[in-house]
Amino acid sequence: MKIAVRYYTKTGNTKRLAEAVANAAGVEALPLESPVEEPVDILFLGNSYYAFTIDPEVRRFIQSLDKNKVGRIVNFGSAALMNSTIKKVKEEAGKVGIPVDDREFHCKGEFKGIHKGKPDAEDLVAAAAFAKSIVGE
Ligand SMILES: Cc1cc2nc3c(=O)[nH]c(=O)nc-3n(C[C@H](O)[C@H](O)[C@H](O)COP(=O)(O)O)c2cc1C
Repeated sequence: MKIAVRYYTKTGNTKRLAEAVANAAGVEALPLESPVEEPVDILFLGNSYYAFTIDPEVRRFIQSLDKNKVGRIVNFGSAALMNSTIKKVKEEAGKVGIPVDDREFHCKGEFKGIHKGKPDAEDLVAAAAFAKSIVGE
């Protein structure tokens, strides 16, 4: 099974989650500037909420994906106040015909002194276990 991991981060939280996911999947965590060139079965996509929505860069990245090269997206993230971004990611992915797995990983992320230290070591272990469970199917 071919796997890729891409993430968008403003303050580093999603990058840390992405590294745990990528490490568990045996690939490298790359920022969105790295296009998905080789076909993959699963694209783990890390992203978060900023001012109640996903960043335009995440939207642009999803729009740039080729449905013939990406089997499905698996979402992960660490929004501080809201929960999953999966609805937004599904909206964008739907426009380019790429399915999004209903299973995802979410934990709280530190934001302006709230949820200090999150994602913490336990979250990273949980993110890795999530990735392993998806990849190991
Ligand atoms: C400018 C900004 C706006 C944010 N707005 C929201 C928001 O509307 N809802 C929310 O749940 N979290 C919000 N957050 C919190 C982030 O989603 C959270 O801290 C996340 O872990 C950030 O991931 P990152 O460090 O990879 O950028 C915001 C964070 C920043 C920096």
